[in-house]
Amino acid sequence: MLTADQEIETANPTNIVIFGAAGDLSKRKLMPALMRMLCCGLVHEDSRILGVLRNRSKDEWIAQLREGFEKYSPDIDINEEKWQHFASHLDIVEGTLDDDGTYQRLSEALHTLGDRKNAMFYCAVPPGWYGTVTQGLHKAGLANEEEGYRRLVIEKPFGKDLETASALNQELQSVFDEKQIYRIDHYLGKESVQNLLVYRFANSIMEPLWNRNYIDHIQISTSETIGIEYRANYYEKSGALRDMIQSHIMQMMTLVAMEPPVEYTADAVRDEKIKVLRAIRRIKPEEVKVQTVSAQYASGNIDDEDVKAYVSEENVSPDSTTETFAAVKFYIDNWRWQGVPFILWSGKRLKTKAAEVMIRFRKPPFNLFDSHASVPAANALVFRLQPEGGVVLRLNAKKPGLTTDNEEMVMRAPYADDAEEVADAYEILMHDVLIGDGTLFSRADEVEASWEIVEPILDAWEKRVSIERYRAGTWDIPAMDDLTKDCVGGWHKPSIHE
Ligand code: BG6
Repeated sequence: MLTADQEIETANPTNIVIFGAAGDLSKRKLMPALMRMLCCGLVHEDSRILGVLRNRSKDEWIAQLREGFEKYSPDIDINEEKWQHFASHLDIVEGTLDDDGTYQRLSEALHTLGDRKNAMFYCAVPPGWYGTVTQGLHKAGLANEEEGYRRLVIEKPFGKDLETASALNQELQSVFDEKQIYRIDHYLGKESVQNLLVYRFANSIMEPLWNRNYIDHIQISTSETIGIEYRANYYEKSGALRDMIQSHIMQMMTLVAMEPPVEYTADAVRDEKIKVLRAIRRIKPEEVKVQTVSAQYASGNIDDEDVKAYVSEENVSPDSTTETFAAVKFYIDNWRWQGVPFILWSGKRLKTKAAEVMIRFRKPPFNLFDSHASVPAANALVFRLQPEGGVVLRLNAKKPGLTTDNEEMVMRAPYADDAEEVADAYEILMHDVLIGDGTLFSRADEVEASWEIVEPILDAWEKRVSIERYRAGTWDIPAMDDLTKDCVGGWHKPSIHE
């Protein structure tokens, strides 16, 4: 978690307004993060957290939040004093999101809170409501920054294709300036993901190797052991490509592939990221088959528990062809990366939970040790982003004894000794909103470019009438071996011991 003794800018007093304050995201992520931030002074003591709610009194809301903390955040030690302190910062505004009166009451509530005219509006509501909330805020004059800053936080998914994402951008930008809009991608809030930039740009040994001359290919992946849980209504319309690749994984790709920015500021970093997206070679409809893989989990066994098939999950259509595994092979047409495949993949109900960036270097140019049994493996640098962040370097070393045979040597460096030291993504991101730093948020042009890139794949997949299945808890997706057959080392499946 973040702590105030780290040299972190403390935000000014503000009103943190949560739309969807009784929802899942609030209970599981936002409120626990705000409590931690308040406890250590990262949310100013004079701030207020205002939940926009209906059909609940303030006391009922607070009681539900407490239940949520006990269920989802057992790591937080809530004693009575701490809880009362947190609760004293909470308030509600009653009303529905489509009623102009709700925003009028919100406006009055902001004005009765003394000097605290700053406001962060967090849309923790289903995406269909983003436009309504924005218009409601506009009509009540709440986007206006004359009295204090006004910042709008929008959750993922941001649109479902290029058309809807552009329409949403236009709607938001008709009310808020781009600088007031913070599009959340919680992966960018993960410390281990930000660390990719530090590894790249704070170490002079990286830059000379970071290009097509030394790198064979790169794999960026997230594998999960969980299924779709209770989210069929969303997931059936989304699938793994929209849910993970268009957003989180393409964002990580931009960090891995971008040129060094001139400074560490929101626009300098995002200007470099967008160049990567522009340089990604567009996949033609006829190339979709060879450059992508999609599959869906069948029943299986994970951690000694039988788990059901995707099509047997609650609210999933029995003949659904939604992909729970997706992979895409991209190429970036620029001087640094020409010809280097970037394989982005993500799946649910796989064998291991991990998120990784794996850089596979070229093989040694010739094998000096040819007369012996083992051929040196190509080196790999793996950035393990989760569960435990760290770096792994795979090198070849001589086997001990009277031989020049070699064996792989694995050097591991954990990111933090104690997981407690690692700040939660939502703490980092909300803190950044409060201090007005947009570096870790996606800009309108980035979101639209990433939708444009995946659009041909979405179009082709929409027409499919059947889908490959893999047994839950396995890596049994043969098409991945085909997709990676020209890549040194093939499909890199994360190991629990990495
Ligand atoms: C979310 C996706 O954005 O990220 C989920 O909608 C996915 O499907 C989740 O499970 C993964 O996040 P994390 O932080 O658990 O890796």
